[in-house]
Amino acid sequence: MALSEYKTALVTGASSGIGSAVVEQLTQRGVTVHALARRRERLEELAEKTGCHIHAIDLQDTDGIRAVCAEIPADILINNAGHGRGFSKLYETPLEDVDDSIDINIRAVYHMLRAVLPGMVERDHGYIVNVGSMTGLYSVPTSVYGGSKAAVHMLSRNLRLELAGKRIRVTEICPGRVATEFYDRAIDDPVLRDTLKNTGTNELTPHDVASTITHCLETPAHVNINLVELQPTEQTYGGSQFTPFENH
Ligand SMILES: NC(=O)c1ccc[n+]([C@@H]2O[C@H](COP(=O)([O-])OP(=O)(O)OC[C@H]3O[C@@H](n4cnc5c(N)ncnc54)[C@H](OP(=O)(O)O)[C@@H]3O)[C@@H](O)[C@H]2O)c1
Repeated sequence: MALSEYKTALVTGASSGIGSAVVEQLTQRGVTVHALARRRERLEELAEKTGCHIHAIDLQDTDGIRAVCAEIPADILINNAGHGRGFSKLYETPLEDVDDSIDINIRAVYHMLRAVLPGMVERDHGYIVNVGSMTGLYSVPTSVYGGSKAAVHMLSRNLRLELAGKRIRVTEICPGRVATEFYDRAIDDPVLRDTLKNTGTNELTPHDVASTITHCLETPAHVNINLVELQPTEQTYGGSQFTPFENH
């Protein structure tokens, strides 16, 4: 199993959802995992369960990112932290949610990479997983969240070109709906939240996504899985929408 070639992982957004599940699966496979997020208590619970090392950090703090990463010779980076505070129409999105979405969903991803990649390049060894979203691949009526995930998509593709000739793999994981705290934290309006959350269909679990990530990491070193789209069988994408003008 190629995963045994990797020793040390950094996982962002590890205090819940997909990130926690990734930490569980990687520690079970003998990887030393450094888990990053803001909620210290959640991280402490995870550390008790999995033996991971924890770093309570706000990823808006780029100096903090550099300080944490400087101490860790990571050969796996799971860029997973993200939030959906921009999961609305741009003209209605609170200004701070625009900034926060860009800060966490894009800027922090760049700074994690900027901090970790020089060591990987020097050692000529590494694996980057960027958690994007189906909303970064297909048009959705939410330009803040969707646009931020589209940035992760192009960043991931361009990284492959930058890293050509290096033994550093890059995979973008694009989930559809996953049953996590994402919508509870993203949307304040209880009616809209319930509408978006309660679809009456089976959603992916965080472990479904984590297993997909683990599968990618376990492929032989000469295999690079560029992009994975996964979504609930009962969810589909695409199609035309025709909406008459309002007030006519
Ligand atoms: N759930 C879905 O349907 C879905 C679909 C497609 C893609 N995704 C993507 O999957 C990734 C994981 O989301 P999830 O569904 O697992 O949601 P989640 O359970 O809400 O997890 C989000 C994680 O990001 C961390 N985070 C948010 N802001 C942060 C900040 N300022 N500093 C440090 N950490 C921060 C949170 O930790 P703290 O709050 O403790 O800091 C938490 O650990 C995200 O990138 C999301 O966009 C989710």
